[in-house]
Amino acid sequence: MILDGKKVSEKILKEVSIRVSKMDNKPHLVVILVGENPASVVYVKNKQKAAEQVGIKSTLISFPNNVEQEILLGKIKELNEDSQVTGILVQLPLPKHIDKNSVISAISPLKDVDGFTIENVGRLACGMKPYFYPATPQGIIMLLDEYNINLEGSNAVVIGRSNIVGKPMIQMLLNRNATVTSCNSFTRDLEEKIKTADIVISAVGKKIVRCKMDNKNSVIIDVGIYRDSNGQITGDVDFDNISESVAYITPVPGGVGPMTIASLMYNASIVY
Ligand code: GUN
Repeated sequence: MILDGKKVSEKILKEVSIRVSKMDNKPHLVVILVGENPASVVYVKNKQKAAEQVGIKSTLISFPNNVEQEILLGKIKELNEDSQVTGILVQLPLPKHIDKNSVISAISPLKDVDGFTIENVGRLACGMKPYFYPATPQGIIMLLDEYNINLEGSNAVVIGRSNIVGKPMIQMLLNRNATVTSCNSFTRDLEEKIKTADIVISAVGKKIVRCKMDNKNSVIIDVGIYRDSNGQITGDVDFDNISESVAYITPVPGGVGPMTIASLMYNASIVY
């Protein structure tokens, strides 16, 4: 069965737009983009489009690729102090001359709609409620909940250990009492770990989940999205080979991607 991220994301966006419509002071999301990374430009456009759709004001602030870190930090300080701005998002990746962690953690944790600041990451890690959960793992949990997929006691395999997806995903699965195995491209016997898992979440950016599953009740979540050598949009999972052997699977596109956007809009509608 397909986990229809498009359909569920539309439902969430609708709920967010109803909530926002009842707010006297509308949320205002500021997106900071450095340089012109083509993927980032598309992501930022999609975020702004979704914000508009749900009635959240959004402003894009673009900087050239060679911007000095101090300039970015100054802008973030200004936005932190602006009571009209309720959410701040710095699109990643940032150019190499900029210390990503310093920039991200300059954002007020109360406006950190990505949930990437040290405070929000730390809160998640030590079992406190963060002000915002990172959008992609939160979107995945929303999708699983929508299909009533039970995580408690399940064996979850998370492939990829990025700050954006893998690490927060692990924490959120632990919070749901899953037994979590963290894998990466160096993991030995990865296929063995995948085949027997109850849930596999792959966020690598290469075709890494190829084997048929032994566990026919398994759930496969494909976070990867990239173009293959033929220019086709594809994910980490060999969908055609694996889909017959699982209970639930996300398509690419139309799975995790739209859920991430809906989840981000859910965050952007929270005002502290
Ligand atoms: N680049 C890729 N994914 C993300 C994300 O979720 N947030 C930000 N800010 N940048 C990204």
